[in-house]
Amino acid sequence: MSNHVYIFDTTLRDGEQSPGATMNLEEKLGLARQLEALGVDIIEAGFPAASQGDFEAVRAIAGEVKDIQVAALCRALEKDIDRGWEAIKDAAHPRIHTFLATSEIHMAHKLRKTREQVLAMAEAAVKHAAAYTDNVEFSAEDASRSDWEFLAKVCEIVINAGATTVNIPDTVGYAQPFEFGELIAYLLKNVPNSNRAVFSVHCHNDLGLAVANSLSAIRAGARQAEVTLSGIGERAGNASLEELVMALATRHELYKVDCGINTRQLYPSCRRLSQIIGQPIPPYKAIVGTNAFAHESGIHQDGVLKNPLTYEIMTPESVGRKGTDMVIGKHSGSHAIKAKLVELGYELDERQLGVVFSAVKDLADKKERVFDEDVEALVLEKVYRRRDKYHMKDMTVFSGTHGVPPHAAMVLEILDGEDVVEVRRNSAFGEGPVDALFKCIGEMVGFAPTLDRFQINAVTGGTDAQATVTVRIMHGPKAAVGRGTNEDILVASAMAFINALNRLEKMREEKEECPTL
Ligand code: KIV
Ligand code: ZN
Repeated sequence: MSNHVYIFDTTLRDGEQSPGATMNLEEKLGLARQLEALGVDIIEAGFPAASQGDFEAVRAIAGEVKDIQVAALCRALEKDIDRGWEAIKDAAHPRIHTFLATSEIHMAHKLRKTREQVLAMAEAAVKHAAAYTDNVEFSAEDASRSDWEFLAKVCEIVINAGATTVNIPDTVGYAQPFEFGELIAYLLKNVPNSNRAVFSVHCHNDLGLAVANSLSAIRAGARQAEVTLSGIGERAGNASLEELVMALATRHELYKVDCGINTRQLYPSCRRLSQIIGQPIPPYKAIVGTNAFAHESGIHQDGVLKNPLTYEIMTPESVGRKGTDMVIGKHSGSHAIKAKLVELGYELDERQLGVVFSAVKDLADKKERVFDEDVEALVLEKVYRRRDKYHMKDMTVFSGTHGVPPHAAMVLEILDGEDVVEVRRNSAFGEGPVDALFKCIGEMVGFAPTLDRFQINAVTGGTDAQATVTVRIMHGPKAAVGRGTNEDILVASAMAFINALNRLEKMREEKEECPTL
């Protein structure tokens, strides 16, 4: 058996299904390039049949990424597979990933199909996909709650139909590590043609066991792990890429397997994701949290000073962490910023470099120290944010304790492509400054979505730090997430709200209809 474990990253698909993690096309492309630098084997770029936006994102990633495989997720339906193939056919290494549920509960209540019908559908879907490419993955959704004998039959049939990877998901995070390892060992032994496919696992974290289950499966012979950066994903998320990879590396003597991950890109990758989705990495998060290498107790500090191995099982440098650098001051030139951007993994053209350079200089005028995180936040805000329908030109907010209700005023531009087609002005009172701002904007766009979530995070430390605001708004059945970063939290709030409105607008244009997975 090979000792290479394929790392299949699904941050852009399962990860994006996590609330608040929606990304736009430019953000997805940037993250895909970062995943390539990280050294994953396969990127699951999205679910092309879900919406026109998903289709375009998958197609763009397929055109961009050259060295690694790009997978498109498709239900076991011909029309999904055709659409999926259309999106990835120009990739250097395309993979069709089709899935169908195999547990009794899913077959009876969700699919309303018998075992025989499911076997026939799985076989037909894989055959249809295999007519396009010899790189076909089949996932038996809810495999961990499926009857083992039936699951083995499904695996045998799809391998005969042309599947080269068979994925065994713990879709609802129900499995226990010893049991999941036994399931993989059972399948490898009892599926007669198991030697003709790579067995993969895809574990969810509902009981906090996603990484443990994946490791147990690898120990039993699985040779692909489906993971996400920082473990983002449906509900409690997926197995975290950085935790799994560092467990394999740190305890290599136990697992005796290798993967192609450049571990020094782990922290930069998780930080990039965190900046894009506007959600901070929790401080206690293994491998990448601020506290992961911080020693607080005196005894620990003393030990680490004498020999880091006393309390450190891996070095911060090995996962790409170093002290926060001060990157630039008022007097730094464009070369310094260009070098910093390359170090952070951003390849920008001359025009984009110019935009970031002047934004960094503006920030350096207002802020004592500009950090890596500040520069990344500016790139995401100034380069990756696309010009949508609504654009804030100017705003002001009055707020305080002087007996006057908080009051906001704004000039909002309406764009058609790059052209400003209308300028609207408005002002409104509110219960607080954010309420005033959101009312003011709602009146200008002609509808008032409900604010479902509002979160502020400081990009760095310091009272002069930039803030990233993330909002989730609801309008009827539709929800959209928006983000904004600025050194003024109210400006960041307005930007986030307008960003969410633009996303709602985009959904309306695309009539986005997401089929149930
Ligand atoms: O959790 C799951 O079962 C999935 C499949 C589509 C692979 O995400
Ligand atoms: Zn999943």
